Amino acid sequence: MPTPSNAPQAAPSVAIMEEWEDFLKARYPEPATASPPATPFQAVNPNKAKADFRNYEADARPTVREFYRLNHEHQTYDFVLAKKREYLAFNRREMGIWEAAEYLNTLVDDSDPDTDLSQLEHLLQTAEAIRRDGRPRWFILTGFVHDLGKILCLFGEPQWAVVGDTFPVGCRYSPKIVFPQFFAANPDSRNERFQTRLGVYEEGCGLDKVHLSWGHDEYIYQIAKPYLPKEALYMLRFHSFYPWHREGEYDFLLNDEDRAMLEWVLAFNQYDLYTKSHEKPDVEKLRPFYEELIAEYFPAKLAW
Ligand SMILES: [Fe+2]
Ligand SMILES: [Fe+2]
Repeated sequence: MPTPSNAPQAAPSVAIMEEWEDFLKARYPEPATASPPATPFQAVNPNKAKADFRNYEADARPTVREFYRLNHEHQTYDFVLAKKREYLAFNRREMGIWEAAEYLNTLVDDSDPDTDLSQLEHLLQTAEAIRRDGRPRWFILTGFVHDLGKILCLFGEPQWAVVGDTFPVGCRYSPKIVFPQFFAANPDSRNERFQTRLGVYEEGCGLDKVHLSWGHDEYIYQIAKPYLPKEALYMLRFHSFYPWHREGEYDFLLNDEDRAMLEWVLAFNQYDLYTKSHEKPDVEKLRPFYEELIAEYFPAKLAW
């Protein structure tokens, strides 16, 4: 079936987002062990057989496979820079954080509306799990805002440019990125400049200097940057960077700060990926708590 290349696809349904997250859970069934303050831990289970990964790929739904195919084909270095120029001008609309959450909630998952959580419910469920564990208030708030960048879908971005495990562009692809074979269709794979180990980067340059595939993580990070602590910003920016935080890849790009922050990214990942239940949080009951928490850190309106 031919797929129109580069043509934005209508994004009324978020079914693939759910399916992508289910796929991640199948691939990473165990939470990584990290509970700050933690002693050194292992991001990668060394006992995990290589074959496991192939099985996850083989078992992936065709829709998930197709999603990764589009993502890997179209997320080029130039695409990422162009999206940053476009969205980091923040000239789309003015919204407060709660308002943005309600806006995000207009995305509908029509695959299984009775059992799946709405976007707002996922945000609240993640934040409430963090709150139950007695984590700091900024951490709870990070749970609440972490997926707000998915409003990119409502701005007309195709889902492969909103979600998906992120990966560095501008250097060689790690074989541990899911479905690495799909990179063959990416024009960057034929550009020598981008296909050395370091590509356009310098050894140990730090993740702040690395361009990851474009999506909801970078967008919400850039929105939240002036307002949240560093640990929170790492969680937002890298929560989908599974090749780093779960596979331990790209060590040669990291600086000491990245290494120190990894445990926070992993601590967040356990709430994001593993707290999903079908128990729906009571939005109206929780709203006052979150409105107050938002006001503690964010201005009433932000430019998106
Ligand atoms: Fe996310
Ligand atoms: Fe999430």
